[in-house]
Amino acid sequence: MDKYIELNTGRSMPRLGLGLYKTSNGSEMESAFNSAVTMGYRLFDTASAYKNEDGLGAAIASCQLPRRELFITTKIWNNAQRIGNIESAFARSLERLGLDYVDLYLIHWPVPGCYLDTWQVLEDIYRSGRAKAIGVSNFNEFQLDEILEHGSIVPAVNQIEYHPLFVQDGIRRFCQQNGIVVQAYAPLARGAYLEKDIMSQIAAKYNRSAAQVGLRWILQKGCCVIPKSVRDDRLLENSQIFDFTLDEYEMEAIEGLNENYHAASIPEDLLV
Ligand SMILES: NC(=O)c1ccc[n+]([C@@H]2O[C@H](COP(=O)([O-])OP(=O)(O)OC[C@H]3O[C@@H](n4cnc5c(N)ncnc54)[C@H](OP(=O)(O)O)[C@@H]3O)[C@@H](O)[C@H]2O)c1
Repeated sequence: MDKYIELNTGRSMPRLGLGLYKTSNGSEMESAFNSAVTMGYRLFDTASAYKNEDGLGAAIASCQLPRRELFITTKIWNNAQRIGNIESAFARSLERLGLDYVDLYLIHWPVPGCYLDTWQVLEDIYRSGRAKAIGVSNFNEFQLDEILEHGSIVPAVNQIEYHPLFVQDGIRRFCQQNGIVVQAYAPLARGAYLEKDIMSQIAAKYNRSAAQVGLRWILQKGCCVIPKSVRDDRLLENSQIFDFTLDEYEMEAIEGLNENYHAASIPEDLLV
């Protein structure tokens, strides 16, 4: 399997990236970023809501790699959508990151009554070249259909929670049929499936860890993964998922773990 996937923009995106939720600014960010780059990670996933764009920006500034080799994703948060100041929120994200463009800009959550307007502004940002791709996160089929109907650009990515305990195959298929790459967040379910017997059995067969088997299963579903870790041993472990293949019985057995379990929560202000 190629380590990159082509987006509907014609550009490529790494199938593996480093999730940065709950990674602190300063030494934790610097150390995780530098270790990850050395191990071959090129995609880094942040958001204005994570409050660490500036920490990531500092790490990028001291990185020896050419900017074009990195793939940086950030996201617009719900408040900015409600207030309607998308442009200035985006400009602040760029400033904190110390960048003149991001590789992917996402609508973090589909704020009811706002996301269609937000998408219009993201289209303008894309056309200006300051985001090389635009996409969404946590969108269901209905919400994506609205974007497809009212927008003029098809989202490049839908970043959703997807892992063996939460197999959202309806939305996965819908995205894949419409040329939208699914990027799986919380791909380790924050650890919730790592102790399951079936995961240990398959992991033992390949001399891998349960985390590697779970991430590989997601890749073989045609999705991308952004596991988070700040530990070197786990960063390395999570990156070694391109050199073994699960068979169809193993794929099905892992799918059998599905219990529609949400590792990540929906922001309270979207529940009203
Ligand atoms: N768009 C959205 O709404 C949304 C929502 C949630 C997350 N995300 C993105 O997706 C990324 C990943 O999701 P996540 O951080 O929620 O969860 P995750 O990647 O499923 O799990 C991360 C947790 O697992 C631990 N871990 C990492 N590798 C491990 C391994 N090999 N074995 C055992 N434990 C391991 C990490 O601890 P250590 O750091 O101590 O290793 C951390 O506690 C986020 O960082 C963020 O970038 C997006």
